[in-house]
Amino acid sequence: MTTGYAGYDKRAVPEPDPEFARVGPDTPCGEWLRRWWQPIAMAAELTERPLALRVLGEDLVLFRDRGGRIGLLHKHCSHRGASLEFGIPMPRGLSCCYHGWTYDIDGRLLEAPAEPAGNRLTEQVVHGAYPVEQQDGLVFAYLGPPAARPPLPAFDTTRTAADAVPFAIRMPCHWLQVYENTQDPVHVVYLHTRMSGAQFGDASGAEQAIDYRATPLGMVNVQTRRWGGHLWTRMTETILPNANQTGAIWEAADRPKTFQRAALLRWMVPLDDAATLVIGWRFFSAELDPAGLGDRAAVGKQTIDFLGQTEDRPYAERQRQPGDYEVQVSQRPIAVHALEHLASSDQGVAMLRRLIRRGIRNVQAGNPPAAYPVTADGRVATHCQDTVRAAPAADADAPAVLRRFGSAVADAVLATADLSAAERPAAIAARIGGPP
Ligand code: FES
Ligand SMILES: [Fe+2]
Repeated sequence: MTTGYAGYDKRAVPEPDPEFARVGPDTPCGEWLRRWWQPIAMAAELTERPLALRVLGEDLVLFRDRGGRIGLLHKHCSHRGASLEFGIPMPRGLSCCYHGWTYDIDGRLLEAPAEPAGNRLTEQVVHGAYPVEQQDGLVFAYLGPPAARPPLPAFDTTRTAADAVPFAIRMPCHWLQVYENTQDPVHVVYLHTRMSGAQFGDASGAEQAIDYRATPLGMVNVQTRRWGGHLWTRMTETILPNANQTGAIWEAADRPKTFQRAALLRWMVPLDDAATLVIGWRFFSAELDPAGLGDRAAVGKQTIDFLGQTEDRPYAERQRQPGDYEVQVSQRPIAVHALEHLASSDQGVAMLRRLIRRGIRNVQAGNPPAAYPVTADGRVATHCQDTVRAAPAADADAPAVLRRFGSAVADAVLATADLSAAERPAAIAARIGGPP
């Protein structure tokens, strides 16, 4: 029997789950996340000056030397600790402003000019550094153990005809509450449609049949709706450890299509325990946005072209029409799982947390995480997609009809993951019927 006015008895706020909450060096979650390349900045942020950043609780400095090479160094100089954000890029490496110690991009000390000739410092001192690589306007870093470094992946959605526009948005909260939102398809109908007015197109507010599937990369949620004369199945994807792919932002689902790809590939990169960089690419093409609702000029540092992703709106408006930013950041700086009441609508969130916990414990036990499978064309096949077909004349809204269609699409997408990107759409269409 419940009684009301329980405020006095419910004041305690326990510590967040430490297995998820901590991301710094030598923490279980931090070590797990360090087994993959992580995007840390947009290449456009790299000027002639170094860039101070925090990644996974570490203070770092990213720079481009005058030879055009990019380095990522521990922030505090190995000499006496001055920050290298005040350093001077050299033709080769970065010079600390205090006494001129110069580090190569791999952290080797090239020069200590205040020391007498013949000193052995350059053989004795190595500064902390991490490997970096660029891909399509993003800078990726690998902060894990050198012997376990995987290749930088090329996801199939980054090799399409769509233009990839980089963006990076800082959010003042724990990375997992941003990430798990992507496996909460139920909020699309509530937050983004019924509560705040249709934020991402009317079709996304239709009743949906939802399913969740494990994939070789993580998981997908499978959302199937009837909209007008069509059935539409969307798969929103989790690529472990912390990447997500999402379909067209304003999908109208008004014509048949097969395996239309992602409008967004983003990583939720922890800066520290209570701050996250949401960084990735927004994809633009006529196919993804036939009505031209997107705006690539609004995609970049601390900005993206759809509602509710930053704090950049008046408070009253954020209250009247809250978006993802408001709900995620307001779950506390680090959400306290012990205070939640997970319900049937949280199946995806629970599944994602299970996958992450399993991954963390696997690395903690000394095992490497599974490598991303690569197809013959050198790409990592992913599963985010939208497929639309004409609805049957009768019972198009029946949950069983939606479920059957969604299942057929998900089966076809998952079964074709070993094909090349060029072969896959036709193979999926052949399995579910209708046009490729
Ligand atoms: S503190 Fe950097 S060179 Fe002295
Ligand atoms: Fe959302």
